[in-house]
Amino acid sequence: MTDSKGLDNGLTNYGDRDFARFLRRSFARSMGISKELLNRPIVGIAMTPSGFNNCHRTMDELVEAVSRGVLAAGGLPRAFPTVSLGEVFLNPTSLVYRNLMSMDTEEMLRAQPMDSVVLIGGCDKTVPAQLMGAASADIPAVQLVTGPMSTGRHRGQRLGACTDCRGFWAKYRAGTVDKEEIDIVEGRLSVTAGTCAVMGTASTMACIAETLGMSLPGTAAIPAVNAARLVAAEESGRVAVGLIGRPIRPSQIITQKSVENAYRMIMALGGSTNAIVHLAAIAGRRGISLSMERINEISDETPVLVDLKPVGEGYMEDFYAAGGVGAVLRELRPLLHLDTIDVEGRTLGERLDEPLDWVDRNVIKTFADPVSKVGGLIALHGSLAPDGAIFKRAAATPALFETEGRAVVFENLEDLSRRVDDPDLDVTPSDVLVLKNAGPHAAGMPEAGYLPIPKKLARAGVKDMVRISDARMSGTAFGTIVLHIAPESAIGGPLGAVRNGDRIRLSVAEKRIDLLVPADEIGRRLAGIKPPPVPRRGYRNLYRRTVLQAPQGCDFDFLSGTDE
Ligand code: FES
Repeated sequence: MTDSKGLDNGLTNYGDRDFARFLRRSFARSMGISKELLNRPIVGIAMTPSGFNNCHRTMDELVEAVSRGVLAAGGLPRAFPTVSLGEVFLNPTSLVYRNLMSMDTEEMLRAQPMDSVVLIGGCDKTVPAQLMGAASADIPAVQLVTGPMSTGRHRGQRLGACTDCRGFWAKYRAGTVDKEEIDIVEGRLSVTAGTCAVMGTASTMACIAETLGMSLPGTAAIPAVNAARLVAAEESGRVAVGLIGRPIRPSQIITQKSVENAYRMIMALGGSTNAIVHLAAIAGRRGISLSMERINEISDETPVLVDLKPVGEGYMEDFYAAGGVGAVLRELRPLLHLDTIDVEGRTLGERLDEPLDWVDRNVIKTFADPVSKVGGLIALHGSLAPDGAIFKRAAATPALFETEGRAVVFENLEDLSRRVDDPDLDVTPSDVLVLKNAGPHAAGMPEAGYLPIPKKLARAGVKDMVRISDARMSGTAFGTIVLHIAPESAIGGPLGAVRNGDRIRLSVAEKRIDLLVPADEIGRRLAGIKPPPVPRRGYRNLYRRTVLQAPQGCDFDFLSGTDE
């Protein structure tokens, strides 16, 4: 291990290096570690257990398995905690804290003595945060995910968080599921450890990590409770030791080409809209960006191949059994950059030369016979979104793709929750529901873009409407929903100018979203808008002063890019 510095990495600054080394070794021995092991190269294990993170319930056994692999390969494993983000336990929204976790990860990778690291995350924002931190710290790193949940059962129906959570809640709101049944369903949606069971944000990010080359091949989709997940953890530990003698850094893995491959994977999966934000942030840490035009080119060239909820029918356990990311990559092969490398130093082309034993074509379709001929997500532009917006066409209603409708405006989240179910709300199925002040500055960009269908319309059988906002939407959600409008309304974006009764036009064919109001009138209306006040202190102050818009991944301005 010629590149190993082990425990001597980054000695504490006392002005006496020998003393610092002596003191560190002495304290390390107080942990009961033998001299022989203390002389080994060190693999850090960034662990993220939390009593507020159900998706990371298996963290202890994953850390144990990674440690086993590190020890077997001749390294010394040292697990350490970082911030953990449990999606549904954070207020106002987990995205606000993704950058905090990425800073924690980056700084602890730099500050502590380790030669390489295994990062263990899973829940929505944790994998992006870890990849952002690793991309910036640029020490050899292997990403391991906790893996998806397995499904539950309810009256003969398979259930998985969280597409079915939304489906049942919509039925409850429409009155077709009663209180007694919804209470039963509550206990049957999330029945094992692991991340959401569908192709939501966590699963999309796991597939991105594998496509980028930051995770071991074949590991993204292994269910959390499958023994193969522990074998993957053990192998991740071994590979992390191998990286010490032959360092391959995130900067060599996360490149313009591998990022393009990852965008293709999102399209082929019908993946989460959130992944667009996170991938922009991860790429941004290496100074890489893709224009909205390039994202649309990739989308138009890349078919949706995976038939999983929320776009299709299956669950992540089906995707794993069907062949997982490797099977999708093989179908996409003609479109991919094959000279990218992974954490093992193999090119993507070399990986894909290896045969797969079997692919379930009910779940992973062929390029020639896809779920859809074009990708799952597109970027929109127009007078309502000068810097872009995102639309998940794979999860939308084609009959609504070309819509001109009357705006029904909610000024903010409180206004939405107060009025959306008001029986006197002036709304029809052909209207466009508009939510303002839900962007990164105004509200931390919550997953509120999946505006509920007003109860009186839901009860009349309306299943979908055009809904637009500067918010995000859960990767497990579906509908004709325009998201991530930039600039956001609170900092002067034209969304802030929309008034009840204005006409709005959505054209998926033209990739446009327009407010049909003269530009000078929009300018007049925006003149009075002031951004919300900046909190006086703490992380919220830092967040509000430095957070970027969705096309830049909502990273902080001072974290994006490299020092080179
Ligand atoms: Fe953690 Fe869905 S709540 S992945």
